[in-house]
Amino acid sequence: MARPKIGLVGAGQIGGNLALLAAQKELGDVVLFDIPQAEGMAKGKALDMQQMSTIERFDSTLTGTSNYEDLAGADVIIITAGIPRKPGMSREDLLATNLKIMTSVAENLKKVCPDAFMINIANPLDAMVYALKQITGGSKQKIVGMSGVLDTARFKSFISMELGVSMKDVTAFVLGGHGDDMVPITRLCTVGGVPVEELIPAPRLAEIVDRTRKGGAELVKLYQTGSAYFAPAAAAVEMAEAYLKDQKRVLPCAAWLEGEFGIENMYFGVPCVVGAGGIEKVLTFEPTAAEKEMIKISLASVSKTVAETKL
Ligand code: APR
Repeated sequence: MARPKIGLVGAGQIGGNLALLAAQKELGDVVLFDIPQAEGMAKGKALDMQQMSTIERFDSTLTGTSNYEDLAGADVIIITAGIPRKPGMSREDLLATNLKIMTSVAENLKKVCPDAFMINIANPLDAMVYALKQITGGSKQKIVGMSGVLDTARFKSFISMELGVSMKDVTAFVLGGHGDDMVPITRLCTVGGVPVEELIPAPRLAEIVDRTRKGGAELVKLYQTGSAYFAPAAAAVEMAEAYLKDQKRVLPCAAWLEGEFGIENMYFGVPCVVGAGGIEKVLTFEPTAAEKEMIKISLASVSKTVAETKL
């Protein structure tokens, strides 16, 4: 059987890390795509990692290109094409620039690999994945946004740092849009099965929730020149791996909803079963009144940005 083909649209900071993780995990052959002005960088990263493969011992062929034809037949596409935030910017400030980029990316992907499982990382996340779906005409199973896995990773890391326990024993998920009003569900977060709300006093837990919500901005401020790229890459690769290996992982993804959680025709972060069918199922549960209120606020933010996404 031929190896799966993984196309990375955008070979910048996140793109490079996506390539490295996907290749090291031997998920398939990797094609790094970027605009003609950045083709050298795409080719350079591919060659550099190809040489690394002999040391790290992974079988994966990496190539760089600025020709969409080289993405033909891709099984998975991960999109990071676009500009990242600078200090003081919100994700929504990227809309006009990144929407133009996404429009051209989506039109081309529709031609060369319409059946790929497409994961969008470009911000503003929920609006960009909406545009991707509208333009490619792809199914809700195959067009998805990476946000919840990253937001949850941030939340889990802060919980494990706070309690001094292994991150392996922290179970949590963050729902909602990929913005400052995302919804960490503290009620369902456990540490080795023990409810976190019984381990961390409410005021301190509220601070951790706040840090999670602003987790992206914290990194933008530290980096100064762009936004996070290690954890975002790992998050999308976890989703790609679940699809390629039919793992049926339960991962919080930005999925197209048709009534789940009372949300219609909108991308929103919810727990999903990810397997060979893509987003195979959304797992729903009854939120508390307080959680419903937070979901409402997050949904209002996503809806506003989507309304401004003129295609
Ligand atoms: N097609 C393909 N690639 C493009 C296009 C395009 N039309 N336009 C720009 N790019 C490329 C850039 O040349 C650059 O190499 O996208 C890449 C983006 O890389 P970085 O600037 O390093 O940004 P990165 O940190 O990877 O973030 C990318 O993901 O998390 C989001 O907010 C972030 O929207 C940003 C995106």
